[in-house]
Amino acid sequence: MDKKKVLSGTRPTGPLHLGHLEGILRNWVNLQEDYDCSYFIADLHYFTDRSEAKHLQEFVYDVAIDLISSGIDPKRATLFVQSHIPQHYQLHLLLSMITPVGWLERCPTYKEQVSEMGLGDSVGYGMLGYPVLMATDIVIHDADFVPIGEDQLPHMEVTREIVRRFNGIFGDVLKEPQALLTPVRRLLGVDRRKMSKSYGNAIYLKDSPEQIRSLVANMITDPKRPRKEDVGHPDECNVYTYQEIYNSGRLEEIAEDCRKAKLGCKECKGELAEAVIKKLEPIKERRSQLEAKPDFITDVLVAGDKKAKESASITLKRVMEAMKLT
Ligand code: TRP
Ligand code: SF4
Repeated sequence: MDKKKVLSGTRPTGPLHLGHLEGILRNWVNLQEDYDCSYFIADLHYFTDRSEAKHLQEFVYDVAIDLISSGIDPKRATLFVQSHIPQHYQLHLLLSMITPVGWLERCPTYKEQVSEMGLGDSVGYGMLGYPVLMATDIVIHDADFVPIGEDQLPHMEVTREIVRRFNGIFGDVLKEPQALLTPVRRLLGVDRRKMSKSYGNAIYLKDSPEQIRSLVANMITDPKRPRKEDVGHPDECNVYTYQEIYNSGRLEEIAEDCRKAKLGCKECKGELAEAVIKKLEPIKERRSQLEAKPDFITDVLVAGDKKAKESASITLKRVMEAMKLT
């Protein structure tokens, strides 16, 4: 029997960081074992909340090299760039015709832009339509499963509603996909806010050991432990969340020594930094091998684009026939 299809994408907002690695990437890599996987760089979605393109090409390259260095294997998975597949633009328009605006206005990501960012009437049409483009990305490749972070669940729900509505009107044309939630805990930035490029609180896969040591040294620890002599509360410490991932073998000792004020935060962070550096070593090693072959990334993406175009054009044809657009 054919393998089930997995598909997911990431927006090229800059190089990938530990939040990406633990939040989605490890899952993407593992899924390659059992599924027919396609992963793509969502460069059209890049424009939903920004209107400049200065660094876009560089970011697309950064993401591609980070994905491959982290274990996405171009021999097993298809890696492509969203904007290179014209069928995505085409199907997006068709799906937009059957999508009620109310579904889109109810999305938390959209509401956030309108209320919290205070953008009100100036929010772009593309931002409103973000879930329609995402639905397009998914259904155009007949994906069965979509590995995503929790924040993307509302978009997945809209995707499934679009599929049901489309099939209700035009017949059984589109496959209804399912979300695959990543079981890992969300890593916060070094300042305990969401890990994000715009906050400058991220540890990047490509950071040097010195950069990692300095970022980790500045991490905010247990706020209830102002002095080393005070007892610590690992469960309220962001550094401990990292230790759970990077020092899982020594976790109980760390917790115990922290609670008894035997382990100081400086020492604890020093140990964490070395563990992170060690974990990133193989990724960095692969990155430098890839950097020595400048055409490799381009070749991978060109081959991936070709496969994605083939798969997308099959679905688009099916849709156009169902909509009597032939
Ligand atoms: N919205 C996703 C994110 O920001 C990126 C994305 C775009 C995506 N299209 C997709 C993810 C399709 C999964 C499937 O992370
Ligand atoms: Fe956090 Fe480690 Fe300090 Fe405990 S010792 S409060 S776990 S940094």
